[in-house]
Amino acid sequence: KIIRGILDSPSRLPQFPPNPTTTNQESVTDMSFTVPEPSVSRLNRCELAVPGSSPHMFEKAAKSDADVIFLDLEDAVAPNDKPKARQNIIEALHDIDWGDKVMSVRINGLDTHFMYRDVIEILEKGGERLDLIMIPKVGTASDVYALDMLATQIETAIGRKKKVGFELIIETALGMQNIHEIAAASKRNESLHFGVADYAASTKARTTSIGGPNPLYGVLTDPAEDGSRDFHWGDMWHYAIARMVVAARANGLRPIDGPFGDFSDPDGYIAHGNRAAILGCEGKWAIHPKQIPLANDIFTPAEKEIAKARRILEAMEKAQKEGAGAVALDGGLIDIASIKQAEALVTQADIIAARTKK
Ligand code: GLV
Ligand code: MG
Repeated sequence: KIIRGILDSPSRLPQFPPNPTTTNQESVTDMSFTVPEPSVSRLNRCELAVPGSSPHMFEKAAKSDADVIFLDLEDAVAPNDKPKARQNIIEALHDIDWGDKVMSVRINGLDTHFMYRDVIEILEKGGERLDLIMIPKVGTASDVYALDMLATQIETAIGRKKKVGFELIIETALGMQNIHEIAAASKRNESLHFGVADYAASTKARTTSIGGPNPLYGVLTDPAEDGSRDFHWGDMWHYAIARMVVAARANGLRPIDGPFGDFSDPDGYIAHGNRAAILGCEGKWAIHPKQIPLANDIFTPAEKEIAKARRILEAMEKAQKEGAGAVALDGGLIDIASIKQAEALVTQADIIAARTKK
């Protein structure tokens, strides 16, 4: 890779922890002695939520264009329906052709008496088709540690071939406070998710719709000459999402934006998805099939961006040959940092192209 050439030989780049073999992602050269180790690389543009108590929705979900599906045992399932939902999910993991979907199950929180049985039943009987367990309301690194211990015991006992990965929902004030330790708590961790609905409840934020804006959250401009003033709406979730992106990226995980409740408002979904993508998120939840194409569109790099990224790589390769570290392209400056961004974008575009060709 070009960046390797520019930075001299790869052996000069310190690797701690050592480069993993389990990932197809280029490891990031962050110029610190500590290099974040990327988790298993997966497309995660749209993560579709499907209640485990609604098996009639499973076939349609399997045929959808979502990259990841989580079958829910938590908040979409009433307490009395939990045992049946577990059974539905176990059967569906075996019987339904999920194609190349990444399959996840959202278990109940660690403060409930449902959780231990969720993990034991799903991991013992769910088979090898299950890729991930989604842990809601993670509050401390010990929550993840406890689940890692349980999963490890079960996998060893039943001789499971695949190690199940973890998706962690950050959706409480405690979880947001401890997010950096949580992100680093297990090698099974793959992604952090912003659970805006529970987060609002936990922080007592004033919201009017799940994941949407509050029209009262904004600023007033100074008066113009005619005395008029404009009100600019703000994004009340900015801090939470930006903090999650930092914790995720510093630990090699995917940051994923959570639900947008009003599924009859595609424009609202697109606006919120775009701002999450711009901050660095790789995907967003869909709580309704209508939201799937919107997420896929938002998190698939546009042709124009890909073409520009390829031109940046070409220009930098030429610069490298000429011994320059930075060059001008289209009237702007590009340098070594531009290569990292361009390579990440081109890699993502190639993975998407490979998947959608099938
Ligand atoms: C998701 O679980 C949320 O609470 O938003
Ligand atoms: Mg929640």
